[in-house]
Amino acid sequence: MSVSPLLSGHDVTAVANWLQQGTLKLVNLARTQGLPTALLQATSAIAWHVVPSRRAFARNLVRESALAREFDQTHGVETAGEAPLTEVGVPLEKAGRGNGLYRGIWPRMFHAALRESRLPLERFTFVDYGSGKGKALMLASAYPFRRIVGVEFAPGLHEVAVKNLSGYRSPEQQCFTLETECADALDWEPPAEPLLCFFFNPFDDPTMERVITRVARSWRHAPRDIYLLYVNVRDVSEQARVFERHSALTLVGRSRHSLLTKVTAGR
Ligand SMILES: C[S@@+](CC[C@H](N)C(=O)[O-])C[C@H]1O[C@@H](n2cnc3c(N)ncnc32)[C@H](O)[C@@H]1O
Repeated sequence: MSVSPLLSGHDVTAVANWLQQGTLKLVNLARTQGLPTALLQATSAIAWHVVPSRRAFARNLVRESALAREFDQTHGVETAGEAPLTEVGVPLEKAGRGNGLYRGIWPRMFHAALRESRLPLERFTFVDYGSGKGKALMLASAYPFRRIVGVEFAPGLHEVAVKNLSGYRSPEQQCFTLETECADALDWEPPAEPLLCFFFNPFDDPTMERVITRVARSWRHAPRDIYLLYVNVRDVSEQARVFERHSALTLVGRSRHSLLTKVTAGR
């Protein structure tokens, strides 16, 4: 009788990354907010992992990892897997300002979020804040955007994205102007064009707030249509309040996995 292993090599890597990320966040939190707060948050994070909705998320994660490897094979690119940011050239203090982790967007969530936005996409430049290895950029090219721009601060991810974009072709492709810049979103100046700014869970709350304020300042200098699309594969409630409470933004739509706001005031 043969016994199949419970976890594949990829699953083991995902679990190891999760543990490493958790430890990284714990150390950072303990340093900035004290050990009791850090331990409280760690307990609540672990509890989250044993409740049914979280376990369902873990199952989705395994399924989406397999789909990501298929995507890579089909298109001759490298986007699958997860990478702690400290291993791709980001210093620890900067890695702690966000997710701390690279993970490519899940295509079905990406397409659903764009569909639900009901925006005339041909009028917009798509900007992916925290573009990683360029997965969202490649998926966005299936829509008629004016152009597509990624901003990524991890040099190791940016290099992979440049290589991916240079070879990417798909029968569905409608936009062929794709570029990516290696920069910190906190220093990056958005172009003075109508923008659909995409966020796949890249930042912690204070960083997200500062980036939104930066976008709103750009709107004040050059008023134009700017929409912010936030996607979270678990639930947008994790960060929705940052968008909903920001005085420069007006809520356009919200579902479990995506939240769309529009810049309606400057800063
Ligand atoms: C969850 S990954 C999303 C990757 C990509 N958007 C996608 O959908 O496939 C988040 C990305 O945000 C990047 N990031 C985090 N903070 C950043 C910052 N301040 N400036 C630029 N990129 C940042 C990380 O390096 C990481 O690649």
